[in-house]
Amino acid sequence: MRLSAALLEIIIHYFFCFTCYTTNTNIMDSFEINKIVASILLIALLFIGIGKISNLIFHVDKPETAGYKVEIPESGTAKQIDDTKSETTEKIDIASLLALGDVGHGEKVFKKCSACHVVNKGGENKIGPALYGVIGRKIGAIENYKYSKALAAYGKEWTFEEMNGYLIKPQAHIKGTKMAFAGLRKEKDRASVILYLNQNSDNPLPLP
Ligand code: HEC
Repeated sequence: MRLSAALLEIIIHYFFCFTCYTTNTNIMDSFEINKIVASILLIALLFIGIGKISNLIFHVDKPETAGYKVEIPESGTAKQIDDTKSETTEKIDIASLLALGDVGHGEKVFKKCSACHVVNKGGENKIGPALYGVIGRKIGAIENYKYSKALAAYGKEWTFEEMNGYLIKPQAHIKGTKMAFAGLRKEKDRASVILYLNQNSDNPLPLP
């Protein structure tokens, strides 16, 4: 790079001298032009030089792979997912969850539901379907109630587990349900209201 710049300077120098000798122009003019060209070249050389020097000083080795590597412990998470999937754990969970509840408390919690539901025998549909005997019933089974497509197509039964899942966060458990209820966060509230629903039935399910 530096060599070719120097060569260029020599070529330009001889070109100007040659033209001024042959055309017989004022030799001073050609010297002026030479000075300008030389200073431009000098500046260019300086820039190249500075670039080279700073490269030497601030030399950075490029890493083999771009970005940061994040180590993920594989075994742990996979095992956890397996555990939650296995049926036995779910059954143990629901039994110990229901043990937290009591029917009296469930009746109180149901006040939150009673804006939209009736649970008594022979109760009508309101905003939501009648809930008498709902535990153990097919999901979306009330004939004269217009369910959302999501709930109508869900195709399962209201087991204790299903009911618990739905009441934690209805919209997350059955995506597209039109039950506009945030959910019951407290385990005791869910357990109690499930027991209360189970009691309001012709044949309550035996507790797990
Ligand atoms: C804001 C009104 C509203 C409240 C409050 C509400 N629900 Fe619902 N619920 C609905 C509607 C609407 C549906 C029908 C959902 C659908 O079709 O997707 C429904 C459906 C249900 C179903 C399904 C019934 C079936 O026949 O399959 C259950 C069970 C249920 N609700 C329980 C509860 C419980 C328990 C509570 C209180 C903790 C509650 N809901 C609070 C409006 C409500």
